[in-house]
Amino acid sequence: MPIESTQMKSTPWNMEFATLAFTPGQATQLDAAARHMARAGGPQSIGVRYIAKNHAEGIASTFDPAQSAIAQRFADGQLAALAFEGMCAPQTFDLPDALPELNRLEEDFTCIQLASRNQIFLELVKHKAFAYDIDNAGKISRLVGNFKGGGQSKLPNENLLPTPELSSHAGLCLGAHTEAPYHCSVHASNGHSPAPSALIMTARWNPAGEPTYIIPMREVIESIGSLAALALTSNSFNFTRSDCFVEGLGESGTNISILQFDENGGFAIRYNAYRFSVSDNATAPAIEAFQRLHEQLHRTQGKAYDLQPHRAVAINNSRALHARNVIKDNRRLLIRLFGYSSFASPIVLNDDPLLVQG
Ligand SMILES: [Fe+2]
Repeated sequence: MPIESTQMKSTPWNMEFATLAFTPGQATQLDAAARHMARAGGPQSIGVRYIAKNHAEGIASTFDPAQSAIAQRFADGQLAALAFEGMCAPQTFDLPDALPELNRLEEDFTCIQLASRNQIFLELVKHKAFAYDIDNAGKISRLVGNFKGGGQSKLPNENLLPTPELSSHAGLCLGAHTEAPYHCSVHASNGHSPAPSALIMTARWNPAGEPTYIIPMREVIESIGSLAALALTSNSFNFTRSDCFVEGLGESGTNISILQFDENGGFAIRYNAYRFSVSDNATAPAIEAFQRLHEQLHRTQGKAYDLQPHRAVAINNSRALHARNVIKDNRRLLIRLFGYSSFASPIVLNDDPLLVQG
């Protein structure tokens, strides 16, 4: 089920989700801008972040007041997710028989064009695309697909591969999570940059329409009760290291909180259903709160969003979890970028392209 359109209705969904639909003229402008950026090398190339900003300013200058207001709501941290719709899909109808190799796809013009378009979307909501030094080999754009096995159908060479890792480069089901790292959400702490403020995803191919589930957390937190929510702010939880981190870098964490007050969105959450546990020093209320959160999430299916080349979705990583089922069609390929809001203060290692310490 796609995210509902933005016509104002007073349902909780519409308070957390919105759609920014482009006019045909804006879609054409956006398409030309993304191609221009791709010809310049895409988000990983020096100078392209400024080209993205210029193009975003040009497109935003054509927004009507409703479009501007929607973009501003996401920029202000007031939405769980923002869908971008009405874009031109790439002109090629090139669904392959099998997913090409990762290094070939990373050089593919259409993939770089879609990554560039994602970077413009981040700029439209006042976010900066960036990469962590410890994650995704330090690259800004991540191709999300079943390269390592674990999908419903086996890859041709799967018997020769190691056991698939729990990451977006495998086909396994990924339970509800925010994106790592999990040490802090907005301001750098103890040598760690904050978690991404947002992630933006589109699809190159998604022939079976396999959805991304988005779970806005405001209602979930309200449903577990105020004292349980308060207990989640205590330093009572551990997490395990992410499988997508660069070998030898990134670490697990102990005695961190799941939830914190945030002056912009009201709260910020860090959670991963398959990586978090209670720490040895957790008190009984903290253990109970963790269990309640787990149970409430189990009852919450989230909003299913069918990513396709003419659609994208930005997810507020402090306000919503996301998840996906086991991959059924191994040709599914998403293109994801992380973004920092204007409120985030990371530890910057390189300004252009933006690389931060994880
Ligand atoms: Fe994810």
